[in-house]
Amino acid sequence: MHLAHHSNSCFLLCIVIFSLFSISHLGIKVFFPLTMESQVNPLLQFLQVSIGYFLFSFAIAFSIFSLLLFFLRHKFWCTCDICHCYLTSSWRKEFTNLVDWYAHLLRNSPSQTIHIHVLGNIITANPRNVEYMLKTKFLNYPKGKPFSMILGDLLGDGIFNVDGDLWTFQRKMASLELGSMSIRSYAFNNVKNEIKFRLLPLLSSIAQEDFRGTNLDLQDVFRRFSFDNICKFSFGLDPGCLELSLPLSHFALSFDLATKLSAERALAASPLIWKIKRLLDIGTERKLKKAIENIDVLAREVIRQKRKLGYSNHQDLLSRFMGIINNEKYLRDIVISFILAGRDTVASVLTSIFWLLTSHPDVELRIREELSRIMQQDQEFLTFEQINQMHYLNAVIHESMRLYPPVQFDSKFASENDALPDGTFVAKNARVTYHVYAMGRMENIWGQDYMDFKPERWLKNGIFFQESPFKYPVFQGGVRVCLGKEMALMEMKCVVASMVQHFDVRAVAAGGDIMFDPGLTATVKGGLPVVVRWRRCLLNFSS
Ligand code: HEM
Repeated sequence: MHLAHHSNSCFLLCIVIFSLFSISHLGIKVFFPLTMESQVNPLLQFLQVSIGYFLFSFAIAFSIFSLLLFFLRHKFWCTCDICHCYLTSSWRKEFTNLVDWYAHLLRNSPSQTIHIHVLGNIITANPRNVEYMLKTKFLNYPKGKPFSMILGDLLGDGIFNVDGDLWTFQRKMASLELGSMSIRSYAFNNVKNEIKFRLLPLLSSIAQEDFRGTNLDLQDVFRRFSFDNICKFSFGLDPGCLELSLPLSHFALSFDLATKLSAERALAASPLIWKIKRLLDIGTERKLKKAIENIDVLAREVIRQKRKLGYSNHQDLLSRFMGIINNEKYLRDIVISFILAGRDTVASVLTSIFWLLTSHPDVELRIREELSRIMQQDQEFLTFEQINQMHYLNAVIHESMRLYPPVQFDSKFASENDALPDGTFVAKNARVTYHVYAMGRMENIWGQDYMDFKPERWLKNGIFFQESPFKYPVFQGGVRVCLGKEMALMEMKCVVASMVQHFDVRAVAAGGDIMFDPGLTATVKGGLPVVVRWRRCLLNFSS
């Protein structure tokens, strides 16, 4: 996301409102001057028009002055090569996505840090800087106000959008819940049922003896799958999105729209633009407001239902939070953040895995070999314990996320002046971004073959080993490391294992580059059309 930080935006907003007010004041006086009062008193009429003109000129002069300040502060005129390339979008001649261009720049930077002056953004792929921001000097690099303003309407005070005490409280509670063994097996059973009763039957309904069958958008399937799962996990309710015959639930559609439009706020040249649109309730801001209203109605309904049914002996996350929190708005914010955390991230990784497997059938074969080593013959589904023995599969998932991380970059805003370990000066309030996508493609981290899809780089004597989270911050690292990592890995392993075990899935357009859509998580533009072929007959699938 491109969060442009403009500390003087509130000031500018006031000026614009002031200008609008003055203009309308003047307009009224100019076009409707013949009120009873002014007709009888020409002096009053003269005064009104003069004051109007004065206010109008003053507001215009002030706005021009503020805009000048704004442009000067944000260096929109910067002519350095990088800024010029950014402003003219000439990077498009050589690179498919902006993130690819950033990765190229960072690979070629001696400090692995670059500065996009026109965005006021320091971008780094240096693991020492990342460790410093996320762990050593964590308190100096909070999410910051610009981020929480952009996502504030959607996420409220949910864990993703807050710092300080609000964050500490939710973090403590959520880690207790997500760490417990009982919630893990509850999550595992949910995933298993969604695969067994929905995902596999759906794939078998379109699978053929050869690859000439119907195209299926796998990205859409995975988004529906992970939405069902995260709703079951978070609310204990099943939206049933994976029934392709059913339209996507109202909630899912509103959620899609709200995340997309919130991310687009960050793409605006200045936050002023979306703030004015929000103030005037027009365009995308109007749509965003409507989508959030829909989400709110449904979230309130979910909470009401839970209260009615009783939640004390339920295992879902909402029930657990409800045992402690009584504030409805706060509960809504917590739940929305969890949906955001667990839905598109998982779907994004699963999509890129099947994209990569299409051009690496050797890797698919090795997953099958591992499966047949670990599973009993005729065993239908992996057990929780067997999942942990799938070292090669784990390596495949990590390698896919190295090349295609679902959260491509993450920004923090410095509380105080500081210097990063590579010597880069960071001014108070400056935005610093660590670039996860670029870090997965750095030669000095991964070696010369950094562009190759090689799950073996994650194995030592056949055993999976974890890379430092500061070289590989796919789940972030340090103090705010992802709390759902284990759950996400379990879910992704179950899906890949089951699909690879029973089907050959091939992306229709294999090879080449993936083009991403703007959003909070990496989304393949146009989806991922695939064809599906049977591997064996699955008579025991019942929906
Ligand atoms: C492949 C899947 C996933 C990836 C790559 C991922 C990645 C991340 C990242 C990068 C962050 C930091 C975001 C930020 O601070 O801006 C994060 C935070 C978080 N994730 Fe995940 N996540 C995944 C799945 C999940 C799932 C399934 C859950 C929950 C069920 C979850 C729960 C959380 C929570 C609660 C946080 C907030 C931590 C905090 O701010 O203290 N994540 N995740």
